[in-house]
Amino acid sequence: RQSVFQCAIDGPAASGKSSCAAAVARTLGFAYLDSGALFRCITLKHLRRGTDPTDWHDFTAATDLRLTALPPLTGTLDAAPVRPRVYMDGEDVTAAIRTPAVNEHVSFIAAIPDVRTALLAKKRALGGGIDGTLPVPGGYAGVVMDGRDIGSTVFPHAQLKVFLTAAARVRAERRVREAGGDRDLIEQELVKRDALDMARAVSPLRKAGDAVELDTSAMAQGEVVVMIVGWVRDRMRSGN
Ligand code: CDP
Ligand code: CDP
Ligand code: CDP
Repeated sequence: RQSVFQCAIDGPAASGKSSCAAAVARTLGFAYLDSGALFRCITLKHLRRGTDPTDWHDFTAATDLRLTALPPLTGTLDAAPVRPRVYMDGEDVTAAIRTPAVNEHVSFIAAIPDVRTALLAKKRALGGGIDGTLPVPGGYAGVVMDGRDIGSTVFPHAQLKVFLTAAARVRAERRVREAGGDRDLIEQELVKRDALDMARAVSPLRKAGDAVELDTSAMAQGEVVVMIVGWVRDRMRSGN
């Protein structure tokens, strides 16, 4: 029997995964785990080095990756997202992993099978193991992890799997509202990254068969959070 409640949130770029996942986790007192940040870190490290490592698995596994815990939720569910700080080999790379250069390269690095294998082990270690029977660092009763392959590959037995989508135009507008930039260029970047993420051979972006799909194009962040928290509570009550 699973002792850790696992909630998997997957979907295309800027569909609202991390902001909603973080608010859900903070509402429930669960750990929030941003798996995209791990791929972004490995991409940043590679871009700084400039040459391909001889062994991508060693290169990835030897990288010390840490995500800070988020404070309990106060205030409105629609508040600007609070994001964990991200440390790579002891350095705070929270801002450095969100640059255009990392956006442009991350899907290529994330398609390398040895990178995925090394980060799969990391993701499971952070989230209670493949089936939620191992303890979670920090002692949390549950985890919310967002990414592309969480419900399909990382936590195949997750008690709740959500696949968040939204129209590409809406996703680009949301990114612009948060961080600025040119809407059309951002939309092109998101669509290109989604195509690469869906096309790769190893654990591509796709909805798990047992995931609930939610189109959030016309939904506020707070509405999405309330729905997902409700689903988690239903499943916890039904003892599953
Ligand atoms: O925040 P955004 O949706 O733009 O991206 P992210 O979640 O930070 O993920 C960045 C990239 O990492 C994705 O485009 C994927 O190429 C890769 N990724 C992945 O392959 N598998 C995951 N579980 C999470 C991210
Ligand atoms: O993690 P992902 O790339 O899927 O998206 P995100 O970074 O969580 O969301 C991108 C932006 O959309 C954030 O500024 C959210 O606050 C916003 N958002 C929204 O306006 N409405 C939603 N229903 C969900 C997210
Ligand atoms: O606090 P600091 O500005 O150093 O870092 P942050 O706010 O956590 O993230 C750095 C930048 O990346 C901010 O401009 C965020 O809005 C942006 N960001 C983003 O565009 N998409 C994300 N999924 C996360 C952060």
